Amino acid sequence: MSQIRLNENQKKAVEYNEGDLLIIAGAGTGKTAVITQRIVNIIKKDLAKPSEILALTFTEKASEEMKERVDMEMEYGYEEPWISTFHSFCDRVLREDGYHIGLDGDYSLMSGAQAYIFLRRFLYDLPLDTLKPRGNPTKFLNDLIKHFSRLQDEDVSDDEYIKYAKALPKKTPEEKANYEKTKELSETYKKYSQLKIENSKIDFGDLIILTLKLFRERADVLEKYRKQFKYILVDEFQDTNYTQNVLINILKDGNRHKLTVVGDDDQAIYKFRGAAISNILQFKEKYPKAMEIVLTDNYRSRQEILDSSYTLIKHNNPNRLEETEKIDKKLVARAAFKPDEEVVSLIAAKDEYTETERVVGEILKLTGYAEHSQESSNSQIFDDKGQSGFLELSSKAKYKFKDIALLVRANSHAEPFIQELRNKGVPYKLGGARGLYFRPEIQNIVAFLRILVDYSDEIAMYRLLSMDVWNLTVREYIEINRLAREQKLTLFEELEKLWDVKIGEVEGEIKDVNNPLAVKMLDSHAISGISNLLEIIDNSLKRIKDGRSILEILYDFVKISGYLDSFLEEESGENLFAVSNIQKFFELVKKYEKDNPDSNIYEYVDYLNYCIEVGESPVVDQSQLEDFDGVNILTVHGSKGLEFPVVFLVNLVSQRFPSQNRSDAIPIPEELIKETLGENFSESNSHVQEERRLFYVGATRAMEKLYLTAAKYYGDGKSSKKPSVFLNEILDRDVGEEFVGLVKEGGMKIASMDLETYESIVPKDVKLDVIKKFSYSQLHTYEDCPRKYEYSYVLRVPQKPNSTLSFGTTIHNTLRDLYTALKRSKEGLEGVSNPPTLKDLLGYYEKNWVSSGYESSKQESLKKKEGEEMLKKYYEKMYSEDQSPLRLEESFSVHFGESVFAGKIDRIDVVGEKGEVCIVDYKTGKVKSEANIKKDLQLPLYAVFAQEKLGLNVVGAKYLFVESMEEIEVDISQKRKDLAKKKLLEAIDNIRERKFTATPGFVCNFCDYNSVCEFAEI
Ligand SMILES: Nc1ncnc2c1ncn2[C@@H]1O[C@H](COP(=O)(O)OP(=O)(O)OP(=O)(O)O)[C@@H](O)[C@H]1O
Ligand code: SF4
Ligand SMILES: [Mg+2]
Repeated sequence: MSQIRLNENQKKAVEYNEGDLLIIAGAGTGKTAVITQRIVNIIKKDLAKPSEILALTFTEKASEEMKERVDMEMEYGYEEPWISTFHSFCDRVLREDGYHIGLDGDYSLMSGAQAYIFLRRFLYDLPLDTLKPRGNPTKFLNDLIKHFSRLQDEDVSDDEYIKYAKALPKKTPEEKANYEKTKELSETYKKYSQLKIENSKIDFGDLIILTLKLFRERADVLEKYRKQFKYILVDEFQDTNYTQNVLINILKDGNRHKLTVVGDDDQAIYKFRGAAISNILQFKEKYPKAMEIVLTDNYRSRQEILDSSYTLIKHNNPNRLEETEKIDKKLVARAAFKPDEEVVSLIAAKDEYTETERVVGEILKLTGYAEHSQESSNSQIFDDKGQSGFLELSSKAKYKFKDIALLVRANSHAEPFIQELRNKGVPYKLGGARGLYFRPEIQNIVAFLRILVDYSDEIAMYRLLSMDVWNLTVREYIEINRLAREQKLTLFEELEKLWDVKIGEVEGEIKDVNNPLAVKMLDSHAISGISNLLEIIDNSLKRIKDGRSILEILYDFVKISGYLDSFLEEESGENLFAVSNIQKFFELVKKYEKDNPDSNIYEYVDYLNYCIEVGESPVVDQSQLEDFDGVNILTVHGSKGLEFPVVFLVNLVSQRFPSQNRSDAIPIPEELIKETLGENFSESNSHVQEERRLFYVGATRAMEKLYLTAAKYYGDGKSSKKPSVFLNEILDRDVGEEFVGLVKEGGMKIASMDLETYESIVPKDVKLDVIKKFSYSQLHTYEDCPRKYEYSYVLRVPQKPNSTLSFGTTIHNTLRDLYTALKRSKEGLEGVSNPPTLKDLLGYYEKNWVSSGYESSKQESLKKKEGEEMLKKYYEKMYSEDQSPLRLEESFSVHFGESVFAGKIDRIDVVGEKGEVCIVDYKTGKVKSEANIKKDLQLPLYAVFAQEKLGLNVVGAKYLFVESMEEIEVDISQKRKDLAKKKLLEAIDNIRERKFTATPGFVCNFCDYNSVCEFAEI
């Protein structure tokens, strides 16, 4: 850095000292370098003391880097300037001066997940009525937190929101509904603020809001900071939000302060609804006298990369400053590079497997390993444990692994690449992609915690028992599980039974088991392993009762189980990494316990589950990886401001990049948005433009080589994907043709997992009655994801009980009773001659109520009430004594060789003169979309069997969505029926052949096994 010779404009920007300064410039033109040099220049020229300089950046990483760069230029022992993110700056101010506005300086700062736990604790104190969550509150609270955070970003106070709500029109029913909802939200917002104050908590949004409040209310405090800072500098200015801007503007008092902001509108990737150019325009308006400098010399990349990126970003015209302000953003490469044949290249692969293989192949070539790996089969050369395989690096190679970055749009897209890199023994480091809680060594600990708070969590139990330290084989697991099932016990209870103990109340030690059944099923290693596990759980439960810390319990768990030692047996990079992750996890637990002294393990696990669900997972410790020579894997968002000699932008297909547009579930009212949206603003347009800027950020990270890669088929590869539109734009040609000839071969393989592990978790020698009785929901699960099928029906890891399922059963059975009574009344059977009344119906409901799976008794009673209302309406609108139910809950089964397909039809109504029937299936969830119903094969399949087995003439089929009272007809034409049957037979065949290839994707979000499945994409 110290060697760089600033160009004329950069020099001007560094030395300008007359007033405010705006630098707008494209990627890699030295904006960050200018800020750093300005700081150094101010100090060296004695224009101000270091403590009089405030530099604000966007991410912790960026601020660390800036500190380092300044550090390098300064003499040892100099006083440090204030270089930090907006949030840590505010944190520092509030800890010191927050007491002026009544803030306890020792407040605890809540992350999003902590805010969730906090709100959840007070859920029933919130003034919610119509919005009160009926089902699982997690999603609702999540949306609520996002909503609050958006309000904070726009500097909307609770009182302002309430005032806004009150003034809303209430004439029409729609207006009234909107008013009610907004009022409720605004009051909840206020309550949330109060609760935070009462409990000395603040969230991230508050940091800025409260600092603003402090400065607004206490002129003396504001003056103190105004006096302190003479220079204010802001990097990545394009991405600051409304409140951050207000903060800057408050701090800056006329000419007393010199404000420098640097930014690039083409790199705005965190702007609300893509208000990319608004900051810079507003700045110009507010500070018309500010000097404006444009930099066009790029010191990072080859010209080819710059040109391609430029062709891409021009597609955002006219919503770019280059257009509106006539600023030249076309970059000229200034760095010296040797000629290269191919700088920007496209890899068009037929499927995901080939894409990952080719990317990793290319990495091996770039680092000089390709020839090596072709000489013999790669697994012999490269240690299959991964990182240790590559200790000596070929000196001839042009690039080191750490020179290479693999950028993904979503964390989950990294997984196949990680697998392939591991398989080939290529070292890698993850930055942000897949955080700590997704690391396998941490997932095991999380499973243990889950069992401590809920021993019936069978999925966690499966994960826990799969840990090597207990010596249990898959066969043994299946055996115990089968036994548990037969006796209708949870696995945990089954173990208690076999060991003849009551965990949590055992006196003395848990010894080996005497039960002959256990001795027959398990070998001696497994017996001692499980004894050890039970002993640990027993001790832990006792300690929980004694109010001991979570940390203490966890520490004993990893020690006594031998888990920690298992990583220390062999000193490989991977093992050390695992240990450091465990350490990090423990530190987080410690911090949680310190910040929440009144919390307990139940709340902690809830918090952890939420973090995992919303993906708020701390990044794995990178500091020790900084110098480690490994391929960098990070998200495009996380790559902001960084640079690498070689960049791979992968998975460039539509729906992945650009991603699908997901708007806020609870949007804030337009009128409260202070940000100026572009003139040509449109919701869908702005999403693609934002994604295009993100793509631009990714591409401009590359210095020498940029690889763009995409495949035609992903996941189960049923339908082909279109290449990303950005590929056409950046390459300035239609790439579609390059994907045309590509055909997928046979069954899809997931990158580089060897087939055995990949096909099935269960070893081949374990004989399983994989499939005897087969139901539609099995077929459905198999179609969703074969791996999910394996978990659910082969390993039989039971799914969590949930309230949706319980409610569904209740309604099914209630309706069955209703129509049975109607049918009997018509047949004059059993002395029942009167058709059922509403009172009867509610009686059936009461009798059939299933109460498992509800979060709390409050939630249960709410749902029960709702169900009652629903049934009343049903009775009034949908039920009629004229209905002619022929059969109810009609079961059937059909043999296919060794397997039997079994199903149950909820209701069969006679609809025609000649006994023609219509089959009806009740659904309790949300109404499925038309498209989903078209795809659905359940009723066509049932129609086949109703005809073949029951000899009925089925002329119609429909779903009855009980909650919304909608009836939806299903197509049961011959074509649909044939297809349904074909699918069924195919699935049965595949299952017999143990084809359990995971097909991760959107479905993982709703899959109960996503916390134990290594392929999960969440
Ligand atoms: N005058 C110069 N001479 C040589 N190298 C330079 C010069 N100015 C900047 N660089 C180098 O160019 C690279 C890009 O600089 P920098 O990261 O500051 O750009 P930027 O404009 O902040 O980029 P981005 O928009 O991606 O944040 C860095 O490696 C930096 O050291
Ligand atoms: S998490 Fe995803 S990949 Fe894994 S079993 Fe579930 S659906 Fe399949
Ligand atoms: Mg920068």
